[in-house]
Amino acid sequence: MDGKTIFQSEGHGPKNASQPQRIVLYGDGASGSLHQKAITFQIGAQNPDSVVVLGDIVYDRGRASEYLGRYFPIYNADVADPALGAPLLRSVPTVGVLGNHDVAPLNARGDRPSDGLAYYLYWNLPMNGPELQAAGPNTPMIQPMFWSQFLQGAGPRFPKMGNYSFELGNAHWTVLDSNPYVNWEEPALKAWLESDLRRASKATWRFVAFHHPGFNSSIAHFQDQWMRLLSPTFEKYRVQMVFSGHVHAYQRSLPLTFKPDAGAAAKITQSREGEVNGGFNLDRAFDGTKATKAKGIIYIISGAGGAELYNTKQDDKPETWQAFTKVMVSDRYSFTVLDLKGKRLEMHQLGEDGKEIDRFILTQ
Ligand SMILES: [Fe+2]
Repeated sequence: MDGKTIFQSEGHGPKNASQPQRIVLYGDGASGSLHQKAITFQIGAQNPDSVVVLGDIVYDRGRASEYLGRYFPIYNADVADPALGAPLLRSVPTVGVLGNHDVAPLNARGDRPSDGLAYYLYWNLPMNGPELQAAGPNTPMIQPMFWSQFLQGAGPRFPKMGNYSFELGNAHWTVLDSNPYVNWEEPALKAWLESDLRRASKATWRFVAFHHPGFNSSIAHFQDQWMRLLSPTFEKYRVQMVFSGHVHAYQRSLPLTFKPDAGAAAKITQSREGEVNGGFNLDRAFDGTKATKAKGIIYIISGAGGAELYNTKQDDKPETWQAFTKVMVSDRYSFTVLDLKGKRLEMHQLGEDGKEIDRFILTQ
């Protein structure tokens, strides 16, 4: 009425393949903690071109009410403030990866939240994933109480939007639902993954993001190794880096290749838990400063985005780390900044105070 501006924002189109771009990644964020707010503020200060959320987007159960309380007010705060968050969502394209907390597990009493699976209501992500049937295999198996209303709201996004891929600049991103209800050994799913990565053969960078890391040195979630089974597929199509959350810590692997033992897949398909053993090749010559060409895939865990940290005493006990782990920082909240410029990648891990925790350069 009085001509005053009541809302202002700006957005940017996606970068083309020849432009440098900055991507921020974090996981396990929206717990409502002060750390989540400080991390969000620091992400805003990095001025990213896009953000990838590595699962466990919203605690505790991926409910619409939790998005309203713990997600939108912080990642879309009106002002950038370490105690509040930052106005990210209104101007920075953000994509989400399904974590275990996002698929509304039953609580201890067996209740189903009526506003669960809000991932499928609030996000609009590419719809180019494998065909899946609602309530069929490889989909979230816990149905909300108001199932038909949920399906009406989600439309074709459920269950298709759990897996997808997209291009950002010179990078191809493949996003997978790594929850235990998905069997990535099933031929139809594997065929989709293979065709997606094959189509990306001309991209300079191929990245895969999913929630449950296959290579983890923390005591917490150590048995959650089933995503290791996809390593040969990632290697076949020359994926350079894989990003996960789930473990509330930062971990960086040596560049590695991994060949699961015969029978490992059959074992893990039944239980979805337990160790997936196999043969490793670790590239110890890669140092990320002078020796920047990697033989193998670098696996990153960036799950220290706001929810309570895991096994914080393990940082000082490298004898408890797996041989593939190069860096482990569990005693601080942190997020990942990825700078891509042609065939050069620089990655920084920053803390909630903005201080650097790790850095390396990867070139082709
Ligand atoms: Fe998780």
